[in-house]
Amino acid sequence: MDTTEKYWVLQTANSAYAFGLNQAGYLVHCYWGKKLPDLSHYPPPAESLGWASFNGPTQVLQEEYPAYGGMCYHEPCLKLTFADGVRDVLLKFDSARVLENEVVISLRDVYYPLRVELHYRAHPDYDLIERWTEVVNEGEDPITLKRIFSAQWHVPANQPYHLSHLTGRWNDEFQLVREPLTAGTKILESRRITSSHHHNPWFSLDAGQTTETSGPVWFGALAWSGNWKLAAEVTNFGTTRLSLGINDWDFAWRLNSGESFVTPSAFAGYTEGGYGAASRNLHDFIREQVLPHGPISHKVLYNSWEATFFNVDVESQSRLAEIAAGLGVELFVMDDGWFNGRNDDATGLGDWWPDPIKFPQGLQPLIQQVNRLGMEFGLWVEPEMVNPDSDLYRAHPDWILHFPTRKPTLGRNQCILNMARPVVQEYLIEKLDHLLTENNIQFIKWDMNRNVSEPGWADAPGEPREVWVRYVQGLYRVWGELRTRHPQVIWQSCSGGGGRADLGILRLADQVWVSDNTHARDRLAIQTGFSMAYPANIMEAWVTDADRGNLPLAFRFHVSMCGSLGVGGNLLEWSEEERREAADWIARYKKVRDVIQLGDLFRLAPGVIQYLSKDQKRGVVFAFQTSKDQSDAAAKIQLQGLHPDWTYEVEGLAGNHPGSFWMSRVLELPLGEFESTMREIQAFH
Ligand code: DGJ
Repeated sequence: MDTTEKYWVLQTANSAYAFGLNQAGYLVHCYWGKKLPDLSHYPPPAESLGWASFNGPTQVLQEEYPAYGGMCYHEPCLKLTFADGVRDVLLKFDSARVLENEVVISLRDVYYPLRVELHYRAHPDYDLIERWTEVVNEGEDPITLKRIFSAQWHVPANQPYHLSHLTGRWNDEFQLVREPLTAGTKILESRRITSSHHHNPWFSLDAGQTTETSGPVWFGALAWSGNWKLAAEVTNFGTTRLSLGINDWDFAWRLNSGESFVTPSAFAGYTEGGYGAASRNLHDFIREQVLPHGPISHKVLYNSWEATFFNVDVESQSRLAEIAAGLGVELFVMDDGWFNGRNDDATGLGDWWPDPIKFPQGLQPLIQQVNRLGMEFGLWVEPEMVNPDSDLYRAHPDWILHFPTRKPTLGRNQCILNMARPVVQEYLIEKLDHLLTENNIQFIKWDMNRNVSEPGWADAPGEPREVWVRYVQGLYRVWGELRTRHPQVIWQSCSGGGGRADLGILRLADQVWVSDNTHARDRLAIQTGFSMAYPANIMEAWVTDADRGNLPLAFRFHVSMCGSLGVGGNLLEWSEEERREAADWIARYKKVRDVIQLGDLFRLAPGVIQYLSKDQKRGVVFAFQTSKDQSDAAAKIQLQGLHPDWTYEVEGLAGNHPGSFWMSRVLELPLGEFESTMREIQAFH
């Protein structure tokens, strides 16, 4: 972090981000790109020029944090109403605090007692800048916030950009889209009270020539698990900017005297190493700085959902557990169906104690059996939900999100608890804490199986539209409290698959269940999209019975081995031969899982993924032939990331050669129809 006069440069290992005050006192973005040799090389703030009487200076300038005020027609970061009804904010620089790798810029409204603090933190090892904003009401009268984004990011002007993002729906998440940005604003958002399957709060921008291995990429993500918005705008002055933050749709927040509002963090980075490097930067950052347990690899788990659905009891689970243990599974997870009255999806949610008919002696007998088999025990919960047919709902029908005059819309026969309410938070903390205290549970899958409707908060103490944010804060509180009380537990975030994967939830969840779609070929596309932002160790992937009989078991295992391997098929139906083969793959996976889960990931070609340990000594390549087109029955690949001078062996390929050799050759891995291959790479150094 360097500062001269009113000019600040945040430097990371390879990039720099600069901004400063111009002569007219506007806080103006100056530079975001490759780190330059000398501080004097960064450009000065642009001067304020209008454009005829139709565009004021702020329309032409690249302001760091534009507020709605004056002649502002592009997307502002801040929009609010003062108590007297004035809806115009005029921020002026007040002061700056400079810390190591961090700067805080304080702005104040020229008339009203309103302070806005812009926080910038450089994460040098990851070429990332973190930004968040705090608004403080220093006056007597309340202020109503209508929009408060975390940040606005400006990319170099006068060139066209492509925006990459992840879109989809339930069973079809994380589909990677890359599209040109043209004049106007492209909005990506969630209005679903969670980050959602629909769009994921991640982006990247490139200027056209970028590939997986080279070229500039500006990329980022928002650490928020509720409604969010990304506005990518190409202005009428040839500049491109991207705003990111909590969604302002149906949002309002009453900021009383002395109160402040702090946004979630938005992270963004710059690399010249192409999309691959951008992903690896995020992977490392998430593993090392975001995940609650840091960079750890995960156990091979078995999940009983697709085998038994709601028909769980000690006997059915024990039979599965015995086979799973024989395969080498390390963690047995009992999914939905275990709690009070839960026989189908219409009952029980909210009553988080063992069903007295299925588990008359509680969960202990099953857990002990699983532990005797040498496995840890995990459990499924869906805390935010309640079925109308449950003891909880009968006792507290008013605890759900609802409008009193409207019949609540059911999704999967369930309503959403109003997590904004402390009484709901306390109930969940108490029930889940009890469950975790009474039982030897090492893993919790936290599910959320519907999106919002009727977002009403009867008797809200303040502005009812705060519910969008207070819900997420309540969720974070409950989950955080449980984590603190039970630090040994590994948590998985699931929302009908990948409906809640974001840097906010990853402060609480160690893993994500990426999709309910477990068809191996569909999964490849889903996993590729996921890998743009998220690392392999958090990507839980099961081998199920989907594709059984259609695709080789090896293919299905290879797909799941690209992340954190799990098994989710009905093992009772698997033949001896299938079980033997599964055991072999699991054993093989355990040998390389650290490389896969914690190493660097390279997307070599569509359907070809390479992993390399951080010390560059061990690697694995997976290649998949996903079409029937046999005109080209080989994956043609070029390895990446090896040490050029070290000698490597690539399993199944003749000769030991220096890394430079392997990286310059196009290797052919023969693959028949729907075949796959896994090759280990070993350095001799
Ligand atoms: C949706 C999840 O994605 C599934 O894996 C399973 O846990 C079901 N919910 C259980 O209801």
